[in-house]
Amino acid sequence: MAFVPGENVDRFRKQFQSAETPSFFRAPGRVNLIGEHTDYNLGYVLPIALEMACYVGIAPASHGNLRVYSRDLDKEVSVPVADIASVKPSKQWSDYVLGVAQELVKAGFTIAPADVFIVSEVPAGSGLSSSAALEIATAVALLRGRAFPKVELAKLGQRAESKFVGMPCGIMDQYAAVFGHAGAALKIDCRSLGHEYVELPSNVRIIAANSLVKHELGTSAYRERVAECGQAVSALREIDPGIESLRDVSPEFFERVQESVPLTPRRRARHIISDTQRVVDLAAAARAHDLSEMGRLFVASHRSMQYDYQISCEEIDFLVDTAIKIPDVYGSRMTGGGFGGCTVNLVAPEAVDAFRQQLSAAYQDRYQKTPAFYDCLPAEGAGPLR
Ligand code: GLA
Repeated sequence: MAFVPGENVDRFRKQFQSAETPSFFRAPGRVNLIGEHTDYNLGYVLPIALEMACYVGIAPASHGNLRVYSRDLDKEVSVPVADIASVKPSKQWSDYVLGVAQELVKAGFTIAPADVFIVSEVPAGSGLSSSAALEIATAVALLRGRAFPKVELAKLGQRAESKFVGMPCGIMDQYAAVFGHAGAALKIDCRSLGHEYVELPSNVRIIAANSLVKHELGTSAYRERVAECGQAVSALREIDPGIESLRDVSPEFFERVQESVPLTPRRRARHIISDTQRVVDLAAAARAHDLSEMGRLFVASHRSMQYDYQISCEEIDFLVDTAIKIPDVYGSRMTGGGFGGCTVNLVAPEAVDAFRQQLSAAYQDRYQKTPAFYDCLPAEGAGPLR
């Protein structure tokens, strides 16, 4: 649902029986255009931050606690601020918030008692990074304008997720939530943690299509992929000890030596190395306004996730295969962690209506579900709501 400030101030006061006016902070979701699972291999990624965001309202309180309410879930948790440093995860939504609070305490910040109100437009489980939006919105709200280097903010959110929530993620989502830029995609170098802006051609629309499925193996399969990439690195280091991550392996070198990597890690590495290259190629194609090349790279990336990284699923493959047969759709691929969520599609502006209709009808026919569509316009990263 779209965020309406006034209405949420009323809900805040009612929920917390408070007369305070909360300050609201926002952090966006993201759609990744290309470079999937390349972040924890220190390669490149190319996300755009979205208008769709998570909003966190905060106001001081006198009860000694960090009291947190999720409007979407209609649930509240409360932790004495003195216990934040030692609080343990509880395997529920509030872990994202408390993980961030704990990391801030570890970084030397004092967290004063407060009421915290959360509402998000980013659909959970959609591959559009609802968790990083929540982490980063929470962090900027708890900081309330206190200075914190942006890159450290992204790293803090990533630590909260990997150490407290227990999902060993890369940096992309939190980075995009912090550094998002209206009008451009971010080409992030996950090794140097620098980025450059990539403007997208104006004659194409980026449409995410939500399969509305999320297969359960998500976190365990993610962990498994991280481990398999590590195995590939170990095998490649036997040949060149200078290799520290798959980022250090060029496509040409890999082509020559791949036989010495065991089969499964070899396939995983092939995806990572080729998708890192595709980020570079997609950025160049976008700058050259070459839509058919952009589309070709999208589909190549999807096939690589489908067959080599093996993180797609039947419904997502169906959406991709159907989309690329629709006229004036340049390309389609899964976006995000995998096993469901969204596809991202490059569509000519005049073909968007037909694209939505045809994809909906086919998906409805096959799976008795209508995908949700999101128009993806690059938006700004986290900050106070003005
Ligand atoms: C999830 C993780 C990211 C990244 C993507 C896949 O969104 O949080 O760090 O690895 O999956 O590209």
